[in-house]
Amino acid sequence: MGNRLTGRVAIITGSGSGLGKATAQLMAAEGATVIINDINLANARAVANEIKAKKGKALAIKADVTKSAQVKRMVDRVLKRFGQVDILVNNAGTGGDISGKSRLGPPITNITDEDWDYTFAVNVRGIFAVCKAVVDHMKSRKYGKIINISSVAGKRPSVMIPAYSASKAAVISFTEVLSTELAPYGINVNAICPGIIWTPMWEKFARQQTEQNPRLKGMDPKTAFNAIVTQGAVKAEQQPEDIGMLAVFLASEESRRITGEAISVAGPTPVG
Ligand SMILES: NC(=O)c1ccc[n+]([C@@H]2O[C@H](COP(=O)([O-])OP(=O)(O)OC[C@H]3O[C@@H](n4cnc5c(N)ncnc54)[C@H](O)[C@@H]3O)[C@@H](O)[C@H]2O)c1
Repeated sequence: MGNRLTGRVAIITGSGSGLGKATAQLMAAEGATVIINDINLANARAVANEIKAKKGKALAIKADVTKSAQVKRMVDRVLKRFGQVDILVNNAGTGGDISGKSRLGPPITNITDEDWDYTFAVNVRGIFAVCKAVVDHMKSRKYGKIINISSVAGKRPSVMIPAYSASKAAVISFTEVLSTELAPYGINVNAICPGIIWTPMWEKFARQQTEQNPRLKGMDPKTAFNAIVTQGAVKAEQQPEDIGMLAVFLASEESRRITGEAISVAGPTPVG
């Protein structure tokens, strides 16, 4: 256990799984009290219990980041119980295909309106909603670290995933705007742009690729994932902890002069 985040309280959205889970584990190991937020309460509780079993401090809270009232209830509950929110990691995200009717790649008429709206509701409006719920509190304490999870697709859009790419570019833009607004209050706002990491989100995306991408058709999803990863200059597969370690740094005092940045942890990787 380290102590780089001792005494800090961190809300990590979507931390019942994947990158958020690894980030929560690493922040707890550095002494933070971590709020494991997810729409999947069973997963959130499992992560909180794992952290507590290692003598970390964690609380699972179910809230849907697209629902402002649920987000506000979550933040009020955290403030009532712990008195502060020092760190917010806006990690909850989606590949966006809830209708089951959209297809990957061009033309854009392949994307249903429902899936476009859902992608932006979770990936963009969700970040806005949680930021809105914590900023007055952070301003009053003249302290805060906000870390938004974007994607390399937000910097180098993929024709395979137009809605996702555009939503992650919006995350970078919002990060820059918010960092300017909050800099006078001692609040740092940065984005992390991960590359390709095998999580439930990517597993779903890989399955779609094996059904719809002629180059990958018929492969099993993990083989398709490996084929994509090894196209990049950095051949090694990334791990969720690679993202979590940067999030810990951005939440710590070591990065106090870094704000408004969108930092890739990726290497020059393709996404399809
Ligand atoms: N895995 C990758 O390669 C990769 C690459 C770039 C960016 N990202 C981004 O990283 C973040 C985490 O993705 P992951 O790969 O760990 O995926 P994941 O599916 O493993 O985890 C996402 C979590 O968010 C939760 N969630 C979804 N909608 C929610 C909502 N409305 N409210 C609260 N929680 C919600 C899910 O239940 C899930 O537990 C996402 O923002 C994703 O876009 C991932």
